[in-house]
Amino acid sequence: MKFFIDTADVAEIREAHEMGILDGVTTNPSLVAKTGRKFREILEEIVSIVDGPVSAEVVSTDTAGMLKEARELSQIHKNIVVKIPMTIEGLKALKVCTEENIKTNVTLVFHPNQALLVAKVGATYVSPFVGRLDDISTVGMDLIEQIRTIYDNYDFETQILVASIRNPIHLMESAMLGADVSTIPLSVIKQLAKHPLTDIGLERFLKDWEKVPQ
Ligand code: G3P
Repeated sequence: MKFFIDTADVAEIREAHEMGILDGVTTNPSLVAKTGRKFREILEEIVSIVDGPVSAEVVSTDTAGMLKEARELSQIHKNIVVKIPMTIEGLKALKVCTEENIKTNVTLVFHPNQALLVAKVGATYVSPFVGRLDDISTVGMDLIEQIRTIYDNYDFETQILVASIRNPIHLMESAMLGADVSTIPLSVIKQLAKHPLTDIGLERFLKDWEKVPQ
């Protein structure tokens, strides 16, 4: 499973990159707004750090506007993946992007039928949001299992990119279900590495080492 980081903060991207686990980056308008920086400037910096897919979201809601943005964004760098919202207008934009070989990531997916449409129109990635489903008392990970089954039934090539990951269990279950990619906040990436028995064990080793004649 590939690991993307879900942030527009370049300091966080650099840190995850230094950990050696980073395959790509996803951003969204909310994450970009948090940085207080210009979108294009951030994207140019990100592609200089990470040699992997970088999702950049359009903010138009009509097909023509989305396509204009998609063409501009995809010109910035070969690794840019255009993020399109899961709407009817978005599907129409997706169709043209697929025809023009622009890499795409369809976002805000909350139902298997939406994921089926996305795959039929040839998206590179589909982004089901597991955390936001959990937020409304629906088991988000069930959606990943359903999409995996549907895509495997028909050999769809669209990659399942698990989004809205909030904790290490989301990540472990994504891997067990065979998701292609997980996009993870830096805080959760750090949690993945932690275990209290690791810390206790290391403390004990270092204490015992003090007894070894130097
Ligand atoms: O980038 C999309 C998604 O990962 C957002 O997550 O935590 O805002 O639901 P969250």
